[in-house]
Formats: sequence, C-alpha cells, structure tokens
Amino acid sequence: MTTKTSCSDFVQFFRSWVSDPMRVAAVAPSGERLARLMTQEIDPFDGPVLELGPGTGVFTRALLARGIPESALTLVEFGEEFAVRLRARFPQARVVQMDAAQLGDCGLFDGAPFGAVISGLPLLSMPPSKVAAIVGGAFETMKPDGAFYQFTYGPRCPVPRPVLESLGLRGKRIGGTVRNIPPAGVYRISRQNPLELSIDGSKYRSTDAGAGIAAYAAEAGKADTGRPEASA
Ligand SMILES: C[S@@+](CC[C@H](N)C(=O)[O-])C[C@H]1O[C@@H](n2cnc3c(N)ncnc32)[C@H](O)[C@@H]1O
Repeated sequence: MTTKTSCSDFVQFFRSWVSDPMRVAAVAPSGERLARLMTQEIDPFDGPVLELGPGTGVFTRALLARGIPESALTLVEFGEEFAVRLRARFPQARVVQMDAAQLGDCGLFDGAPFGAVISGLPLLSMPPSKVAAIVGGAFETMKPDGAFYQFTYGPRCPVPRPVLESLGLRGKRIGGTVRNIPPAGVYRISRQNPLELSIDGSKYRSTDAGAGIAAYAAEAGKADTGRPEASA
C-alpha cells in the first residue's frame, strides 16, 4: 500500500485552500513522514479508527498501510470536495460529511467504540470551546484506553491545558518532523484515569469530564456559525 500523494491531490488541496483558507489551513497535504508518525501507535487490534479532517487521505492511506481494514475506518470531513474524493477512493470506509464539533451530539457514533482517533483538524485557531467540543465528543466515542492523535505546527499541544484538564485528559508529544511543510509535532492525548469511567450504553465518559464536555459543547453551539472556524 503506497502512502504517496498524487499530483492531483496537491492540485485539489491547493484549490481547496484558495477557496477556503480558514478551513483547509495548509497549502499542501501532510507528508509521508508525518503520516507515519501520526499512525505509528495504531494497529489492527485496536478496533475501529475515527479520522477527523482527512482531506485527501494522507493519514488514511498510512492507516491502511499499517493493516487497519478499510471497513474499520470512519472519516469525518467538513469539505464536500474532499468528502466526494474520499468516498470514491475508500469505498469501504464510512465517510461522514459534517463539522467534527458535532461529534458528541449527532447520534451517529453510538456503535462499537473506536480504538483511536486521528485528527488533521486545524485546532490552533479554533476557539477553546470548539476544541473542547471536538476533543470531548471524540472521547465519548472511544474505548477507555483509546488515544487521540493530533499534529500541530506550533510549539506545544494544540489542545489548551484548561480544556485538557476540564475533560480529564493529558497530552504528550510523541514525535516531530522537519520533513513536512511546515515542520510539525505529533501529540497523543489520552485519559488521565481510564479506569475511572462511568459506562453509559456504548458511550465512555469520564465521570469528572462529563460536565466539562457539556459546558464547552453548549458554548461551542452558541458560537457555531454553521461552518468551521478553522485556520492553521
Ligand atoms: C490541515 S488540513 C489536513 C488534511 C489532511 N489530514 C492532511 O494532513 O493532509 C485540515 C482538514 O480538516 C478539514 N476540516 C476543517 N475543519 C473541520 C471541521 N470542523 N470538521 C471536519 N473537518 C474539518 C478540512 O476540510 C481539511 O480537510
């Protein structure tokens, strides 16, 4: 399975950035080295994988190269142009065109919990309330020991510390590469206390974090303009 990005992917990505720079937030898809770093800890035994903001599918291809079955992938992408391309390219994956901030309350992810979430979302310029809605919603869909992988072009974890704390999470840098445009770091975000969970149906929610997620999600909903408030 190749992880190489085609010329047409570069063209599509650049066009999308020109038409909506705040949402796409990068002029080119991520490089192969970053894709390997983002997926290095995920293996087929982890269970289904949720990818947020896949774009042209660089990380999706890296997941397949690691042996994750295509049918075990759910891809959440806001951009219609990318969603159309993803459906054609990964016909066995579940492609959902939506704002990832709606993860926690859309009712679409109540099946088998995910083993991992991999995110290419441009969290850095989103308001903390929206970041909390995305990350909190993602953890509601994940197994107790599941992890959320996020890259950033910045010098520290792109999920602000107060958001991590209010959701009962912690972030750890697990790698970085200068062989990407621009250079990027990768963070693993995981629960502080995975064993102290209340299990409500198929949703796994930290007892302390529940109120924090709800408060941030409500605030994000108030500020929601119907499109992602994204940039790099
Ligand atoms: C920086 S690009 C990353 C694309 C790809 N993962 C990569 O690394 O090449 C950000 C992606 O997130 C998508 N996106 C931005 N905001 C989103 C949101 N709120 N919900 C879902 N997707 C979003 C964009 O359309 C774009 O595909």
